[in-house]
Amino acid sequence: MKEFTIKPLSNAIGAEIIGVDLSLPQDPDTMRTISQAWLDYQVILFRDQNISLEDQRRFAEWFGELGNRRRGARKDRPTEEEEQGPNVMLVTNVRDKEGKPIGSLPDGEMMFHSDTPYFEHPDKATILYALEIPSWGGHTKFSNSYKAAETLPKEIKDKIRGKIGLQAYAYGTVTKQAADRYDKGEFPFWEHPILRKNPDTGRTALFVSELMTEEIIGLPADESAELLDFLFQHQRKPDFVYEHVWRVGDLLMWDNRCSVHARTDFPSDERRMLRRLTIQDFTGVQAGDLK
Ligand SMILES: [Fe+2]
Repeated sequence: MKEFTIKPLSNAIGAEIIGVDLSLPQDPDTMRTISQAWLDYQVILFRDQNISLEDQRRFAEWFGELGNRRRGARKDRPTEEEEQGPNVMLVTNVRDKEGKPIGSLPDGEMMFHSDTPYFEHPDKATILYALEIPSWGGHTKFSNSYKAAETLPKEIKDKIRGKIGLQAYAYGTVTKQAADRYDKGEFPFWEHPILRKNPDTGRTALFVSELMTEEIIGLPADESAELLDFLFQHQRKPDFVYEHVWRVGDLLMWDNRCSVHARTDFPSDERRMLRRLTIQDFTGVQAGDLK
């Protein structure tokens, strides 16, 4: 196994892995150590990478089967993103000659969320590689959902114990008001425990997010909204958050079971492009518990 270093990115969440070149295949011991760092730190960063889609795919596939995008095909012709295959999302504001985005989630700030919680089997990991980065903004904030869960006041823990949250999303939405509701006839939704166990670590995480959790099942609407608002505010506390300032060549991998992420605003007239793959998870969502 090649020597490399694991260095925490903050007290909240995340670690940088230094000394691994992802353009090359890695031996199983190295991959096992990387995987353990991902479970321990929830977000791992590799800087100064120069990797093709095939390199990114090889790295990702070690962790499981790649997630498939579920999207309506454009009727006229495929976008640049679609041409790269069913697993790839280009997170970009770049537009074609007709002004249509060539990828997904083009512009501006995006609220805290995890990726695909509105499915029965949310993708466990997301692997994002930076191709083009604007001169300011477009940072990704990560919040540690284990710490958020563990530090809740006792009366809040008691209120959410055993409760189920409704996770929903209208594709392309980046911000939302508390009262907004997605059209569930048109977009996917699923119910998951608010305290969720990560089966790989046995630890319990807070599984809600401002962008995608609409209600707590079984509570009166005002009580549900008030409790969710408390949880969203708690999740945003700086003690739990690391803000990543992207550089071209960064590859970040995060665990959607125990972290949420948000994007800060950035200039619409500068190009930003990141290539995303996700990893499926068929272990099934399990309820967790807290002391
Ligand atoms: Fe995301």
